[in-house]
Amino acid sequence: MISEKDIVLDHNYDGIQEFDNRLPNWWLWILYGSVVFGLCYWLFYQTYGVGDAPEVRYEKVIARAAEEQLARMAGQERTDESLLLMAKVPAQVDAGRALFEKNCVECHLADGSGKIGPNLTDGSWIHGGKPLEIRHTIDKGVPAKGMVAWGRQFSPMKIDQLAAYVLTLKGKNLPGKAPEGEPE
Ligand code: HEC
Repeated sequence: MISEKDIVLDHNYDGIQEFDNRLPNWWLWILYGSVVFGLCYWLFYQTYGVGDAPEVRYEKVIARAAEEQLARMAGQERTDESLLLMAKVPAQVDAGRALFEKNCVECHLADGSGKIGPNLTDGSWIHGGKPLEIRHTIDKGVPAKGMVAWGRQFSPMKIDQLAAYVLTLKGKNLPGKAPEGEPE
């Protein structure tokens, strides 16, 4: 009786022929293992989100580092850098977003693309696009043009959070109101 391993398959590629051998066990176990691992990985990270995917973990590390750095700078003078750090801390940005959604959307729209007030997502600024300049515009307003001086009703901390949130809109370049002011 001829055994399975002696059966030559009937294809022939440039003189190369093939036996119909059984796949080795070590090879099959790697295959099955990979399938099981892939399925678990997919369920864990994608379907149920039990674990953080690498990019989410990365974002969290960056946010925590920004938060720690900010805490170390507490009590120091506010700078462009400290506002940019704040714009990386989700809790601060969320607080700014909540204030923005309540007070700013009627003129700047929810996505910041502008209506009565200018588009905050483009690269052009009437009063400067540096973090401190943006904060200053929010704080002091432009009363003659209809932009309220928010510093009269909100604490300096809340003005910081608003500026941090506007910094997250900056550079999104959403279609909306045409650019006003000077390109940065
Ligand atoms: C009643 C309408 C109105 C509301 C509400 C409003 N803004 Fe404005 N905002 C304006 C106008 C108009 C300008 C442009 C001022 C000018 O032309 O000098 C402006 C300008 C700005 C600028 C500067 C843009 C630039 O190009 O330099 C920022 C930043 C800004 N607003 C943030 C905010 C934030 C944050 C809030 C909410 C706390 C807010 N605004 C609420 C009308 C408004």
